[in-house]
Amino acid sequence: MTDKLSGTLAKTALVPARDLLPRGRRHPLIIAMALAAGGTAKTSTTTILGTILALRGYIVRIFDLDPQCNSSEICGRREEHREPEQKTVWDLIQGLCTLDEATVPARYRTGYDDDGNPLFKEVPNLFVVHGDSQLTDTDTLLANKPQKFNWFYNLTGQYTKGDMEAQDREVWLLDLPANYGKLTVSALIAMTEDDEVIPPLLVTGKESGALEKLLKELLAMQREFSGDMAPATPTVKHVLLCATPTSSHNAQEYHDTVEEVERDYPGMVLPYVRHSGVTAKQYRRQVTPPISDPKSAPSVDYEKVADALGFPDLEPAEG
Ligand SMILES: Nc1ncnc2c1ncn2[C@@H]1O[C@H](COP(=O)(O)OP(=O)(O)O)[C@@H](O)[C@H]1O
Ligand SMILES: [Mg+2]
Repeated sequence: MTDKLSGTLAKTALVPARDLLPRGRRHPLIIAMALAAGGTAKTSTTTILGTILALRGYIVRIFDLDPQCNSSEICGRREEHREPEQKTVWDLIQGLCTLDEATVPARYRTGYDDDGNPLFKEVPNLFVVHGDSQLTDTDTLLANKPQKFNWFYNLTGQYTKGDMEAQDREVWLLDLPANYGKLTVSALIAMTEDDEVIPPLLVTGKESGALEKLLKELLAMQREFSGDMAPATPTVKHVLLCATPTSSHNAQEYHDTVEEVERDYPGMVLPYVRHSGVTAKQYRRQVTPPISDPKSAPSVDYEKVADALGFPDLEPAEG
């Protein structure tokens, strides 16, 4: 092959499509957004990437494991809109409902009716395990009822043992809280090296050392739990840099952070997600950029992230 040709190929070559049920596993692939630092784009990444994968034809289930319930909120599921009988992740952890009973279709706000009530439309293929502010009590719950600590691993076990079946093309995205408390650990120990933990790092933030701390915590989980209790091999394969510099957001400090992470994690850095004011709007608007602003920076950038993670469009438009 000529150098010229291989150069062209290298630029356009797609990352191979990911095996969604590797090594014969029966439960969906898990991608967890984790980093114990507030405001590092865990929720932004979960909801925007989740929408893109759903629009690409994957069946995406977002687990809203943060008591702040931001993923639910962005997915049109604010606490105040919840039907009284609707189950949540809090019920799921306690074993009071099934996974599907705690899951609702994600939706986006299209406007308001004459009485000022919001109107919603469902996002095809996108689902949320409904968040719950009571999750702040999870550490106490799991301390008092240690058998519930395995709730997430047991959930994957329901597939492994055969009474539940992963939908073809199903992926689970976990939006984790900004700490390594029992809830975070209970979710991460169910993960294998086929899954992945993605730390999103906001380059405008000040959490140097947070990545190193995450890796140490994952290693500690592996030592403490792997073997008889759970697979406990949560693995970081990629690092996601968010709010990277643009012509209007251009402090030297941001460039330094990008450079530092590229140096410390060679080959692991995903395509950059540039700084954009559009990202923050999804909280108030209750609609994610790929739906509201498909040509905006976050939409375009997270499309590249989806490619790099091995999730090609399963339903590409003709022509
Ligand atoms: N690419 C980006 N550009 C600009 N702001 C961003 C970007 N990604 C996230 N943010 C903002 O950073 C803040 C924290 O993001 P969020 O996703 O809520 O973090 P976390 O879930 O880790 O707490 C939010 O205000 C969000 O809008
Ligand atoms: Mg969050």
